[in-house]
Amino acid sequence: MHQDFENILFSEASIQKRTKELAEAITRDYEGKNLMLLCILKGGVFFMSDLSKHISLPIEIDFMAVSSYGDATKSSGVVRIIKDLDRSIEGKDILLIEDIVDSGLTLKYLKENLMQRGPKSIKICTLLERQKRNKEIISVDYVGFEVAEGFLVGYGLDYAEKYRNIPYIGILKPSVYA
Ligand code: IMP
Ligand code: MG
Repeated sequence: MHQDFENILFSEASIQKRTKELAEAITRDYEGKNLMLLCILKGGVFFMSDLSKHISLPIEIDFMAVSSYGDATKSSGVVRIIKDLDRSIEGKDILLIEDIVDSGLTLKYLKENLMQRGPKSIKICTLLERQKRNKEIISVDYVGFEVAEGFLVGYGLDYAEKYRNIPYIGILKPSVYA
């Protein structure tokens, strides 16, 4: 295990197993539709890559980058679009791909923004969701795992841009950011 990790919450094998299950559900639900996976950079990239390989449908992918955290570990509540879509989403069935839904404020903002561009539908798929968040802010449609408090890193999740490439997910030792 990486020295900055306190533990391993989700091993590489368990992430892959759960990702495959989600992809199978998505394949069933989106048969005959116009599915576009919309990855929220940068954290969602690893998850979307693995997920998409198990979706047995013709899909499109695109990317958006937003900023809500900077290098801090708490949400500022401010969302900024740093990179927008390359193409129109009119008439498409959009599935937003996130690494973790913490407060849900980022996705709430994004979904409202994207709704104005005429997609056929917008749903949300996240690998992780905070158990105790206020679910009235926004609901998510596909969830890999529910997680408790604690700052997580690995498999796309970063602290100050580090640890994204670690293939498993764990809690970052508080001494690293204290
Ligand atoms: P929200 O707007 O509060 O839902 O924040 C979601 C974003 O915050 C995620 O896409 C992550 O980039 C980031 N985030 C929230 N919790 C963590 C964490 O434990 N580790 C790393 N990033 C996190
Ligand atoms: Mg993110």
